[in-house]
Amino acid sequence: MPVIANNFDLPFNIIRCSYGILGVKDLDASKKFYTEAIGLIETETTADAAYLRCLEERQHHSFVLQKSDEAIVYGLGFKVSKEADLDALKKHFKKLDLPTRWVKRYAQGRTLATHTPHGIPLEFYFEMNKEPRILQKYGLYRGCSPQRFDHINCFTYDLQGSYEFFTQELGFKLTEYTASEDKDEMLACWMHRKGTVHDMALTNGFGPRLHHLAVFVPNALDIIHLCDVMATTGYVDNIERGPGRHGISNAFFLYVLDPDGHRLEIYTSDYLTVDPDLEPIRWNFLDKQRQTLWGAPAPRSWFEHGTAFEGVEIQEPYLKNQPIIAK
Ligand SMILES: [Fe+2]
Repeated sequence: MPVIANNFDLPFNIIRCSYGILGVKDLDASKKFYTEAIGLIETETTADAAYLRCLEERQHHSFVLQKSDEAIVYGLGFKVSKEADLDALKKHFKKLDLPTRWVKRYAQGRTLATHTPHGIPLEFYFEMNKEPRILQKYGLYRGCSPQRFDHINCFTYDLQGSYEFFTQELGFKLTEYTASEDKDEMLACWMHRKGTVHDMALTNGFGPRLHHLAVFVPNALDIIHLCDVMATTGYVDNIERGPGRHGISNAFFLYVLDPDGHRLEIYTSDYLTVDPDLEPIRWNFLDKQRQTLWGAPAPRSWFEHGTAFEGVEIQEPYLKNQPIIAK
């Protein structure tokens, strides 16, 4: 069986996923996309980066758009419960023989960077500058009214190994997974820390690469409205997949590509997962309703396109299973 028991016995507490740092070639164009079309709030723009946040977030940033020559990803951030967790994590990674370094991140306190054994870069922090909550400033709502950063999805070449690292070594809890019927091999998984379906999802494929970052929105109509906004403001070709409802997670979704090809999911209506004895839901890899409850398969680009992490080599996946792809 690919599923193993969750590990609750770790000397640190990762609260949730918190931010992504995206390399963008044209800062003004990217900022326009994320603020005017999607509806993120601009906290601050420096000489080489824009710091954006969602409507309910009281932290300085959840999206960092970093001026870059390439469309690459610089970092994925997670919040921990207290400063001492950072030292406990550093000790833990040393025991696992994983390199760590303290990185300077604008508007954040101490930030510990490492990577998974399969190359996914991870950053951990406790302190970040506080900002006013925009949630009840309805006059500032735009696009899909993004409420909060919801999750990260990455391609990995070793799905089982990456799943075991996140659950056994970082304390993530499995909520749903996809497995092949014939060989009982795991091909995708959804794991959480904060009590929703996921903070981190993994997809089998050429990796490590970022598949997407996701924002949570109040309801499905906000997603429909974003389709109308994008279709009439020059972004019609940036709509990649949806809107629809996933079988996995039950989420109502839309996938869009930003001007550099970084994928963003607009996401709502998943469910509570805090019970420690929650049984993970298994999906058959060839069940078309796992992708989309209504039966429509995803386009080829959704399975193949992703963005690379800075300086990380991309490897061929161990498993070669072919998903159902739209004709
Ligand atoms: Fe997602």
